[in-house]
Amino acid sequence: MALPKNTQSIQVKAGSSSYPVICGAGSLSPLSELLITHAGVGPLFVLSSPRVWNFCGPKIRHALKGANVSRVILFDDHESAKTPRAVEMLCRKLIRAGARRNATIVAAGGGVVGDIAGFVAATFLRGVSLVHVPTTLLAQVDSAIGGKTGVNLPEGKNLVGAFHQPKLVVCDPTLLNSLPERQFRAGLFEVVKYAAIADQRLFELMEAKLTGISRHDMRALMEIILRCVKIKAAIVGRDEREDGGRAVLNFGHTLGHALETVTNYRHFLHGEAVGWGMLAASLVSVALGKLDPDVAARMIRMIAGVERLPALSKTSATRILDVMQRDKKSREGIVRWVLPIGIGRAEYGAAVPQESFRRVWAALPEWERKAREAECLGAEYRA
Ligand code: GLY
Repeated sequence: MALPKNTQSIQVKAGSSSYPVICGAGSLSPLSELLITHAGVGPLFVLSSPRVWNFCGPKIRHALKGANVSRVILFDDHESAKTPRAVEMLCRKLIRAGARRNATIVAAGGGVVGDIAGFVAATFLRGVSLVHVPTTLLAQVDSAIGGKTGVNLPEGKNLVGAFHQPKLVVCDPTLLNSLPERQFRAGLFEVVKYAAIADQRLFELMEAKLTGISRHDMRALMEIILRCVKIKAAIVGRDEREDGGRAVLNFGHTLGHALETVTNYRHFLHGEAVGWGMLAASLVSVALGKLDPDVAARMIRMIAGVERLPALSKTSATRILDVMQRDKKSREGIVRWVLPIGIGRAEYGAAVPQESFRRVWAALPEWERKAREAECLGAEYRA
């Protein structure tokens, strides 16, 4: 089928399946046709949240005109509600609403909606079809692509989940117009992640155009979304189940997940926790002699320029280390980090001595303050 002008289709060729990510302003309008082409004609069950549906519901409903929508089910999409209990509740609602194996779940929302709805699709009746319509920047550039689904436990983030690839992802940046500012900026941290690990040009673009991007300049926004989607498609295509290189996408997530866990998923948005995590990983990398201090200074200025990060909670390094050891990325109790080694280059699987982390942890708030006040000089980053 013909796609609207200025819309691109990027194919994710994961080992278990291959599917398009349709990107562009207006890509939502042919949603009904896209669903038939990629997910078939079975009944659709739209899973979303009250706040997403409030802002984006009318547009999505309009795009679904003529489609076989059986039910719209809304649920709490705060990170603290991303629990096994939410999955049980949704599965029970689905079965009572008549969903059977020919159902397609349409996840319309941000990262939490996508993760929960994705996990429901992976497990309900042993798996039904899934389509993502991401409505936040974070979900458009990252979480809706690649098949990771899951929920949190009090013991740690995303500790229960499954890989379940969608049949289709539709990223329409016009949906971001109604996104609360804090949510938008939290998504920008994931864009910084892609730039830092894989795309020097994207990093430079962010440095040059952060103001325009922050004002939702549609051209700039499209460019950054497309770059991130292409990077993610390539990485997932090489390593669908994170047996190796996909781990690089966890830059900033080792500490980020621990921060979310120790604050009961209530203090940071995911992207913000990742912002702190990238800042820490950059400093750790300098301390281990893997990253030039001037390059770290650029990274930290970029992170601090996206948003003033919520204050770190009064948590000890020991507690954070304890939570990080339970993370999926640790092996034999050794925490594995993704460390930047240049702009657009990172290594994964790095073991970081506890002492190095403790020193960085103690200094983190001061670095963030300095970066915000643009006082940071490269040499200062030497531990
Ligand atoms: N968000 C990291 C990944 O999809 O692997």
